[in-house]
Amino acid sequence: MPDTATDLLAAIADVGADRRRGGFSRHGFDRAELELREWFAAEALSRDLAVRTDRNGNMWAWWGEPGPDAVVTGSHLDSVPGGGAFDGPLGVTAALAAVDALRAKGFRPVRPVAVVVFAEEEGGRFGVPCLGSRLLTGAIDPDAARRLTDPDGVTLAEAVSAAGLDPARLGRDDDALATVGRFVELHVEQGRGLVDLGAPVGVAGSILAHGRWRFTFTGEGNHAGATLLGDRRDPMLPASALVLAARRAASQVDGSRATVGRLVPNPGGTNVIASTVDVWLDARAADAAGTRAVVDEITAAARAAAAEEGCSVTVTEESYGDTVHFDAGLRDFTADALGGAPALPTGAGHDAGILAAHVPTAMLFVRNPTGVSHAPAEFAEAADCAAGVVALATVLERLAG
Ligand code: GLV
Ligand code: MN
Ligand code: MN
Repeated sequence: MPDTATDLLAAIADVGADRRRGGFSRHGFDRAELELREWFAAEALSRDLAVRTDRNGNMWAWWGEPGPDAVVTGSHLDSVPGGGAFDGPLGVTAALAAVDALRAKGFRPVRPVAVVVFAEEEGGRFGVPCLGSRLLTGAIDPDAARRLTDPDGVTLAEAVSAAGLDPARLGRDDDALATVGRFVELHVEQGRGLVDLGAPVGVAGSILAHGRWRFTFTGEGNHAGATLLGDRRDPMLPASALVLAARRAASQVDGSRATVGRLVPNPGGTNVIASTVDVWLDARAADAAGTRAVVDEITAAARAAAAEEGCSVTVTEESYGDTVHFDAGLRDFTADALGGAPALPTGAGHDAGILAAHVPTAMLFVRNPTGVSHAPAEFAEAADCAAGVVALATVLERLAG
């Protein structure tokens, strides 16, 4: 019996399990992600798929000779800190299971098929989401990428070098990109759209515009007991004002979201007034104008609060991606192949969103009964994962046959 996607997920359930946060912490080129890469290579080789790692650390497992017009599927194996088991790995395991299913029925692809694992999709280590696909497509300057630093001060250049890649070769990879004729990513749904529709599988319509901004507030480090309130320049105050402004600003722009999920005071002691506070803002809206409006309002509030406390603030855009509308032809073809699967918009970013600017791209979503994602409660029933595999195999067969 070939492995199901659920079997394959079970096989990696210990890798990167985060006992402190719960869920999984698997980040680009860290120990857990490297172990998953080895696991993926072994699974691919056991299926006689030829494994290649491209210049940017993305892994490709080829069924057929790598060549132009390939039908590529896959996702990522990294997670957010304390993330769920499905975001990313379901797309990889479903792709392997779809290859098994197609082979079991004797299908022989006319066009090559590849299963891809993109590097550091969540940006959980180096801060920029979809890093592997951005590098592949030239959507990030390789010099800027090489300088990205993880929380321990390790640069991306150092991390890829330790993983056996040449950091000088990071950057747009026209040879790899030219092989991709179409890209189809299967993903756990990150909301309750399919639950509400009563459908196990859907297709993606669009992705919100979204980006990340780092605010660094600088005040004066000092003693929590000995410093009079009037003498303080505490950067935690404007940082807190930013958190509240994010909710306020997003509630004024229809359909937008703004989140502070990470805030780091330096040096970070209970009895210490911080000298600096870094705050990361994630903002999303239907389009660029909406996103900018939200970020501009939050920035204005942060600057005003900083000035009031005698602090300074710098703002750095760490990543941005415009609204994605998936290729209508491939979306409709995919939905029709699945007997009229519903199309859903999503607020989550994906490598498919990056690839969509270069090749016809589609996404399949698998129902998530909790509607939760980026947290341990993220879930998909085995039967729905199996339905996702059947759907993916159907689409691959039509595209590659
Ligand atoms: C990734 O899943 C994101 O939407 O940030
Ligand atoms: Mn994610
Ligand atoms: Mn994902």
